[in-house]
Order: sequence, then structure tokens, then C-alpha cells
Amino acid sequence: MQLTDREFQLISSLVNKICGITLGEKKRSLVAARLQKVLLSGGFGSFQEYYEYIIQDTSGEALLNLVDQISTNHTYFFREKEHFDFLINVALPGISEEQRNTGRRKVRIWSAGCSSGEEPYTLAMILKEYLGGNSLHMDAGILATDISFSVLETAMAGIYPADKMLQVPISYRQRYFSPLKDGNWAVKQCLKDMVLFRRLNLMSREFRFKGLFQVIFCRNVMIYFDKATRRELIEKLHRYTEPGGYLLIGHSETLDREAGLYKYIKPSVYKKI
Ligand SMILES: C[S@@+](CC[C@H](N)C(=O)[O-])C[C@H]1O[C@@H](n2cnc3c(N)ncnc32)[C@H](O)[C@@H]1O
Repeated sequence: MQLTDREFQLISSLVNKICGITLGEKKRSLVAARLQKVLLSGGFGSFQEYYEYIIQDTSGEALLNLVDQISTNHTYFFREKEHFDFLINVALPGISEEQRNTGRRKVRIWSAGCSSGEEPYTLAMILKEYLGGNSLHMDAGILATDISFSVLETAMAGIYPADKMLQVPISYRQRYFSPLKDGNWAVKQCLKDMVLFRRLNLMSREFRFKGLFQVIFCRNVMIYFDKATRRELIEKLHRYTEPGGYLLIGHSETLDREAGLYKYIKPSVYKKI
């Protein structure tokens, strides 16, 4: 089925309005290919017909399905490992030191745009290893959010095929995963207990969290956002970062330094000032 200029424009501005993703001309064939299946299975005669169906669907489900098709969910365990090294060598020792001085016991990390769960489960493994025996006395938790229901379902199920496990060190695999008869691996309950999955659109005006986070991972989410959307999101993330806390973004992303909200620490690592 042909995706006309007008149809591409209608669909891309809808996607942009809803989730901030900018679909440039280069993404046109990707959009056509991904939506082709939806059009066929839904019996739509054209992209225009599909578009009208989405905007008339008051349940919002059709719109969510569109976002699911369009967003890129690629992720893997221990992606951009330097960030986890930074957590172990800098951020967590800083938090422990502060907690020794104040008697506080809370560690809160947010994985914003968590996709199918590999990022928050990696964080959970790092936290467990770092806190070791102390984890019993430390209230450590990870909030993991995404706009897409389908990736969240996978994340909550916590079952991954063997090829996804290649990046997980063997000792961690043994401690935090159970092999299943069909060759897949299941995340153990002790890890699942540390992660709270929730659906959240980062474009929402307010996030309404009760507390602040010491560390926010928002990696490989903003790549497709335009400059204004990125700036708005950074301002919101800043509001929910504890003073002295960190924001980590993807290595191929940049933060508008003129905004002056975060202090640059090193590529893709920023500190709230
Ligand atoms: C490429 S994945 C990155 C996953 C992980 N952070 C990583 O770096 O491996 C991007 C994720 O951002 C999510 N996303 C895109 N736009 C979003 C929005 N407006 N609100 C929340 N999540 C969004 C997508 O659904 C997708 O799961």
C-alpha cells in the first residue's frame, strides 16, 4: 500500500504530538513497512483510513498501538557499560557516604524509557552487588517507565531468550536468572522485587512522583525528539533529580549545556547543581 506525502505528514505530526518522536523523511519507509501489517490485519484500505480510525478512537488504544509500532525499543543488558561503572565507582559511593552522614536509607533510581526491562534489571543487579549484605538495611528501588505497553509486558514477565543473556556475566546469570526448559532465562524474584514498572509518557506535563531520584537513566530515548521537546523533558527530569544527583543519557545524545541545569561531568553524564 502506498503512503502518500499527506498521509505521512498526518501520521508523523500525530506521533510527534503524542510522544515527541520526530519522524523525518528518512523514516518514511520504516513507517510504511511497520504500519503495513497493522493496515492489513485491521482491514484498512489506506493509511488515511487508518489515521481517521485512530483519531476517532476515544479509548486511546489505537493511538497506543501506533506508538508501539513506531517507537524503537532496541536495548540490551549492560548497554553502554561505562554508565554502570560510573554508578559503581562514583554515584553509589557518593550516595553511601551521604547516607552514613545523614542516616538516610533510601536509594532511588529511575530508568526512564526502560523498554523491555534490560536496563532496569541491569541496574537491579548492580545495586544488589554493590549493596551486598547491606541491601537488607537499605531501601533500594528502581522505577522503570515506558510509553509502550507491549515492551512493559515483556519487562514485567522478565523472560529473555538465550542470545539476550550473552551480555550478562556468567556469575550474575547464575545469581539472578533461572534457566527454563525451553532455553529461555527467567529473572529471579529477588531482582523483580527491586523494580517497579509503570507506563508513563515522558511528554506528560507532570510526572507526579512522590520523591526525587538520586540517579536518572534516560538513555537513547531523546534521539528522536526535536530540540524543544528535548529541552522540556530535561527541565522535567531536572525537577525530579535530587540536588547532587545524576542524569545519564545515551552516548550518542547531547544535552543543551546552555540551559545550565546540570553540570557536565563527562560525555553523557551530568550532575544536578
Ligand atoms: C531505544 S529504547 C531505549 C531503552 C533503554 N533506555 C536503553 O538505552 O537501552 C527507547 C524507549 O523509549 C520509549 N519512549 C519513546 N518515546 C517515549 C515517551 N514519549 N515516553 C516514554 N517512553 C518513550 C520507547 O517506547 C522505547 O522503549
